[in-house]
Amino acid sequence: MKYIYFLLILFTFQKHLIIIHAQQHPLAKLWGIDNDYVDIYIERELNLINADRTLKPYLDELNFAETYLNIQNNTLTVYTVNMSKVPEILSIPEVNRYERFLDFRKVNNSLSYLKSSFSEITKLAKQNKPTGIFVNINPKFNNIFIIVYDAIRNDSQEEVLEEYIRSVSQYNAEVIFTNSSNSLNSLTSLHTKRGLSNSRLVETIFCGQGIYNEFDEVTCSAGFFVKNQSHTFLVTAGHCNDNNHVSRSKKKFFTLQTIKPRLIGKLVFSSVYPHDIPLIDIKRISKRLRVSSGVFFENTPYYLHELFINNDGIPVSTHGAHLCKSGYTSSVTCGYTESFNGFDMEADSYFREDLIFVSNMETLFGDSGGPVFAFTNMIRVTINGIVSGRLNSYYETPISPFNSYIIPLDIILNDINLELVTDPIVNV
Ligand SMILES: *[C@@H]1O[C@H](CO)[C@@H](O)[C@H](O)[C@H]1NC(C)=O
Ligand SMILES: *[C@@H]1O[C@H](CO)[C@@H](O)[C@H](O)[C@H]1NC(C)=O
Ligand SMILES: *[C@@H]1O[C@H](CO)[C@@H](O)[C@H](O)[C@H]1NC(C)=O
Ligand SMILES: *[C@@H]1O[C@H](CO)[C@@H](O)[C@H](O)[C@H]1NC(C)=O
Ligand SMILES: *[C@@H]1O[C@H](CO)[C@@H](O)[C@H](O)[C@H]1NC(C)=O
Ligand SMILES: *[C@@H]1O[C@H](CO)[C@@H](O)[C@H](O)[C@H]1NC(C)=O
Repeated sequence: MKYIYFLLILFTFQKHLIIIHAQQHPLAKLWGIDNDYVDIYIERELNLINADRTLKPYLDELNFAETYLNIQNNTLTVYTVNMSKVPEILSIPEVNRYERFLDFRKVNNSLSYLKSSFSEITKLAKQNKPTGIFVNINPKFNNIFIIVYDAIRNDSQEEVLEEYIRSVSQYNAEVIFTNSSNSLNSLTSLHTKRGLSNSRLVETIFCGQGIYNEFDEVTCSAGFFVKNQSHTFLVTAGHCNDNNHVSRSKKKFFTLQTIKPRLIGKLVFSSVYPHDIPLIDIKRISKRLRVSSGVFFENTPYYLHELFINNDGIPVSTHGAHLCKSGYTSSVTCGYTESFNGFDMEADSYFREDLIFVSNMETLFGDSGGPVFAFTNMIRVTINGIVSGRLNSYYETPISPFNSYIIPLDIILNDINLELVTDPIVNV
């Protein structure tokens, strides 16, 4: 009897070990490596980011296009229009140190051409107001992507779109139509109705956990905390505040992952366009709730519940570098930074710009508003922005299965003159 009991314990213990082992770090998953190599790859990525920062000032926009970091083969691709420039660049001592990581590739479109075309394409979108397009410069394809996503368009809107596509055809941008069978999955605000809650028992609210807008019955994710001289706020995504016409003072946000819903605070500021940023004032936060600036991640390989924010990192500016998010529905997932400064024209008056586009990063309904960050080691992160939405999964297009767009941190802080809170426990 005792023996069997012992075996049972052993069995349970082993099963437990297997489960622990199977928990892959989200970066290990993204990069296709074992957890043991994540730190090494973070170092590797940092070296390539440094190569990129060193090189960039020497790349003039007429002879070069963008660069792209390839973590798997430890190279930085430098898209080059005029290959005769390469020896010149390599003769610069700071750059030469990185020579073995650099891979110069011939392309036709210079950055200067791409930027001026993008600017014309943007101007035309603002004039003509086509419905349901997402536009950005895609470095890997050395071109501008105009992604036409599923949106409800009446006949005149279809005409406007067709006319727009005709008028921008002079720039030879890549126009990508996405036809999904499930229109619910099209580019859309990633919020959801209450019902997903599987009440995890914590009485602290972390960045990335579920929050609930009781008035509009919308679930989103907590972004991160910011402050001005007198107040502390929680940032989330703008469309977590539905029905902009209703008085803001009525809108209260509650926790979802506590034993009972607890008051976080009231909405005090909200803008959806051109940037998607509401602020929740936490002055009247529930006495039963502790606020942490840590990013919620219950499945870390180290049994932690959070990732720590350190603000010494610089926001990602290298194409191909990783970015991750923490969200209520799909937890922590990671992807590659594909593009900066994209815009989304969802409907004629709904224009959002300065968006960062990330491929491969799974985001689902309810993840909107969650923090976006880069790992500086396995458990420390630098905040880069918040999840604003995503494009649908695409098949047979040059885009990855998951495509999210992000509002950059500096936009959030500068728009409203705020400071990021990085102390572990946020003072109210
Ligand atoms: C490195 O990998 C990228 C994408 O994974 C590929 O496009 C590129 O050609 C590779 N570069 C070299 C030098 O193998
Ligand atoms: C390409 O670069 C070489 C070397 O700097 C320069 O002499 C040449 O004029 C450039 N070609 C063009 C078309 O700009
Ligand atoms: C670049 O231009 C050349 C000459 O016009 C053309 O043959 C080539 O296919 C172009 N390359 C790409 C990638 O478009
Ligand atoms: C199409 O929709 C737009 C925007 O809602 C509206 O202004 C326009 O009148 C509609 N046109 C037709 C023909 O229904
Ligand atoms: C996708 O939709 C566009 C525009 O409605 C249409 O022109 C195209 O044929 C569709 N493509 C497929 C594969 O269904
Ligand atoms: C801080 O934000 C609060 C709430 O929006 C506002 O009333 C106050 O004036 C702000 N303080 C400063 C110094 O900007």
